[in-house]
Amino acid sequence: MSADVSLSKEEFELFRELIKKYSGITLGDAKSYLVESRLRPLLKASGSATYKEFYQKTLDRKSGWLEKIIDAMTTNETLWFRDRSPFIILDEVILPELLKSVKTRKIRFWSAGCSTGQEPYSIAITIFEYCKKHPEATPSRFEILGTDISPSALFTAIAGRYEGLSISRGMDQSLLTRYFDKDGRTYEIKKEVKALVKFKQLNLQDSFALLGRFDVIFCRNVAIYFSDDFKRKLFKKFHQALYPHGYFFLGSAENLRGFSEDFEALQHKQSFYYRAK
Ligand SMILES: C[S@@+](CC[C@H](N)C(=O)[O-])C[C@H]1O[C@@H](n2cnc3c(N)ncnc32)[C@H](O)[C@@H]1O
Repeated sequence: MSADVSLSKEEFELFRELIKKYSGITLGDAKSYLVESRLRPLLKASGSATYKEFYQKTLDRKSGWLEKIIDAMTTNETLWFRDRSPFIILDEVILPELLKSVKTRKIRFWSAGCSTGQEPYSIAITIFEYCKKHPEATPSRFEILGTDISPSALFTAIAGRYEGLSISRGMDQSLLTRYFDKDGRTYEIKKEVKALVKFKQLNLQDSFALLGRFDVIFCRNVAIYFSDDFKRKLFKKFHQALYPHGYFFLGSAENLRGFSEDFEALQHKQSFYYRAK
């Protein structure tokens, strides 16, 4: 097999359809290079001479190649306290409000498309910091679910171990000292923070029925990869998964305009977030 085997237009179309069908990720015409480069290691590992031959192997679902392709095609870019403002809104608006209004059950958060865990752990740290300032509140009143389609991202999330850029991006030195155990160059999120967060593999195309309901859903920088039609269906399902008047966060460059009428936009300082109508 030649090391520089390339992806033809026809082969690109085959993989593009496959990826869309099984993940909802919609690739534009210019993304042929991305498919080629991300799938090349898998093509080699499968011993295929061409992308077409590799594609044929993926049709045998028991082979496991499909899951590996979807994993390779996801973009797991993330950082701690991404954009800051959602975590400020949690601290200044949502946590005090929920602690007052929810008395008889846990307060539930969902980080949908949580990648390697920085988002749900940032929520957990925000809760711990809030409880430190307000001793009447306790972290045990909260639970956080992180879900993602990508098994390799979830593997890191569950381990809660980070090093290099993955620990430094967005992380404040005092929080690093307070909420992580250092082991050589690796930082592991402390047990008590980890205890608040459960992880589960979930394709957002699938049913949310078994997840229960949530007070706050984060789905940030995930739906940007989906078709308009999938976004509409997804936002409807999030609305159904929220308790009445539950909160919803998108990424700072995303909004619901044209995709959902089920939420009202709220503003805190310079930032926007949503609440279920
Ligand atoms: C760019 S990351 C965003 C991580 C985090 N929410 C943030 O804003 O930093 C997008 C994540 O969405 C996940 N994803 C893509 N398609 C998905 C799907 N159909 N179901 C569940 N997760 C998906 C990817 O695996 C990836 O980890």
